[in-house]
Amino acid sequence: MRLFNSVNDYGAVAQALHWLTVILVALAWALGIFGDLLPKGAARQAGLAVHIYTGLALLVLVAARLTWRSVDASPALEVTELGPDGKVARVCRRDRELCALRAACRGAGCRNRAQFARGDAL
Ligand code: HEM
Repeated sequence: MRLFNSVNDYGAVAQALHWLTVILVALAWALGIFGDLLPKGAARQAGLAVHIYTGLALLVLVAARLTWRSVDASPALEVTELGPDGKVARVCRRDRELCALRAACRGAGCRNRAQFARGDAL
């Protein structure tokens, strides 16, 4: 398995940092929400400690991810017949009632909302 990103794919390091972030966010959230269900005393204290260290580890991970990104360029944007934003635009044309996708589309550079609402190519 490649450590570095290629033009088409993320490498092992970027993927490992990504999934570690997912696991730590889930763990911190779960312990924040459900930590009170642990028995009072040592178990609950341990739960809170893990919660806090998980959150602090996430800060370190963010720094690691930014550092890694600065030395290992991301894969190229997928080229479609609609340009680099085409993938998002095509989904938006199919399900144009979904406001969340509409917002995503705008964020991705679909500036003309009327054109987008008609489902025209962007
Ligand atoms: C991504 C990181 C984090 C997430 C997702 C997260 C999430 C949460 C959630 C959902 C709660 C419960 C809030 C409530 O029930 O009102 C909570 C409580 C708490 N969090 Fe975090 N948190 C994170 C990081 C941190 C960090 C870094 C610290 C400390 C430096 C911290 C300290 C606390 C404390 C002291 C509580 C209250 C616990 C209690 O009442 O027993 N959290 N957190």
